[in-house]
Amino acid sequence: MTKKDIHFSVAVYSSIEELVPADVALLVSAREVTRNAYAPYSKFLVGAVAALANGETVNGTNQENASYPVGICAERVLLSCIATQHPGIAVNTIAISYNNVNGESDHPISPCGICRQSLAEYEERVNHPIRIILSGMSGEVYIIEKASQLLPLSFSANDFG
Ligand code: THU
Repeated sequence: MTKKDIHFSVAVYSSIEELVPADVALLVSAREVTRNAYAPYSKFLVGAVAALANGETVNGTNQENASYPVGICAERVLLSCIATQHPGIAVNTIAISYNNVNGESDHPISPCGICRQSLAEYEERVNHPIRIILSGMSGEVYIIEKASQLLPLSFSANDFG
């Protein structure tokens, strides 16, 4: 028996003020776009903004539904918009923020499992790592260099072969 260690590093910044200007702009946009979330049931408004290799930015927000399972997370709304509006273009960085109307919004949240699977496949699809910036409306900021690091030992299309 051998053991395989799987690990990755998260860069932790104490606030948005420690980030480089391009990352500040993206995180500010993610915070602002939470306004466009449709989350009347959870009151948890999530905003995700992508910086693409062609210089464009694309926004996504969570969109809920009275039939709860119909709701879609901000990250997957975002990836669908990118794939539709900018097919084949690499995604350099995605900033994700949230406004928890009934509670605190002062620490980073991480994408859910389904979104991790979607992000990992998007990286493979365009063969480019996606940096992820995570932060609430205030407080610490986490930066992860490659989205698929969030989903170790993941299942992918490579497993079909
Ligand atoms: N949500 C996201 O949009 N992204 C995440 O990373 C976590 C959760 C949404 C789903 C649902 O609309 C609400 O937040 C509460 O779970």
